[in-house]
Amino acid sequence: MPEHQEKSIVLSIERLSPSVYRLTLHAPLIAGEARPGQFAMVACGSTLDPLLRRPISIHQCSGDGRLQLVVKVVGRGTQLLSEIRAGQTLDLLGPLGRGFRLSPGPVALIGGGIGIAPLLFLAQSLMQTGQADASCRVLLGAQSGEDLAPLAAGFETLGCHVELATDDGSLGRHGLITDLLPAHLPNLGKVYVCGPHPMMAAVAALCASAQVDCEVSLEAHMACGLGACLGCAAPGADGRYKHVCKHGPVFKAEEMAWTTR
Ligand SMILES: Cc1cc2nc3c(=O)[nH]c(=O)nc-3n(C[C@H](O)[C@H](O)[C@H](O)COP(=O)(O)OP(=O)(O)OC[C@H]3O[C@@H](n4cnc5c(N)ncnc54)[C@H](O)[C@@H]3O)c2cc1C
Ligand code: FES
Repeated sequence: MPEHQEKSIVLSIERLSPSVYRLTLHAPLIAGEARPGQFAMVACGSTLDPLLRRPISIHQCSGDGRLQLVVKVVGRGTQLLSEIRAGQTLDLLGPLGRGFRLSPGPVALIGGGIGIAPLLFLAQSLMQTGQADASCRVLLGAQSGEDLAPLAAGFETLGCHVELATDDGSLGRHGLITDLLPAHLPNLGKVYVCGPHPMMAAVAALCASAQVDCEVSLEAHMACGLGACLGCAAPGADGRYKHVCKHGPVFKAEEMAWTTR
């Protein structure tokens, strides 16, 4: 599927928490083709600083050409994105990468922190195509309730069963979201996960021991997003490096070499 370079119009920007923003854009070319788990390379500013585009997951798309991104401010590029205003344009390259492979059956979606952002699009697609039903489990974790609540909104409306956990106990269970997974595993056909690397490594190991299919959405530093620069290489289980931007960002968990880092 070809990618598009599209000058989107910013329709709105909402602050969801002190460091997280949701951008609603009019980007009909990309919104019309994006699949859950794909991302866009976003030109964050109008100057040469930062020089490189930043990869941001597609959060939601609608048939009228609207596309949403959820951005957590961690540095210069994401800070500039948080300062954009309605009416301005935002240059996107996308949709990029291989997204989640949707399969019918009982599934769980597991998200940590800003890794929750691409999972709402996935849940929508699974529910709307009838590949998941009310047995769909959504397990979401973050550092605090302030971080988690805005990212977790929307899943219950779709009819999913949602469970939450926070590091500080301010929302949901006090502890790691991965602690909630073993109880569900015997009833699951597939798990989709996006979040911090140690969380995905733990989920991959639990799924492997229970022989449940698992797909992971990896993060990597990206310069081009197109498979041209080798900037995003991640070690595969076969000893060969994969380009996260082109072969992923979504991989079968068993394709990757898992390390604790
Ligand atoms: C496929 C993909 C999808 C992503 N989706 C989202 C999303 O939906 N929302 C969102 O807020 N962020 C997402 N990210 C992460 C986002 O790309 C980075 O946070 C962003 O590039 C940081 O740019 P910056 O200029 O603000 O920070 P920089 O100044 O470049 O870096 C600030 C800090 O963040 C770290 N960092 C930068 N980029 C990455 C990265 N790719 N992975 C891990 N650590 C990084 C740096 O090491 C540094 O410590 C995604 C990344 C990938 C690869
Ligand atoms: S970011 Fe350039 S090859 Fe992946």
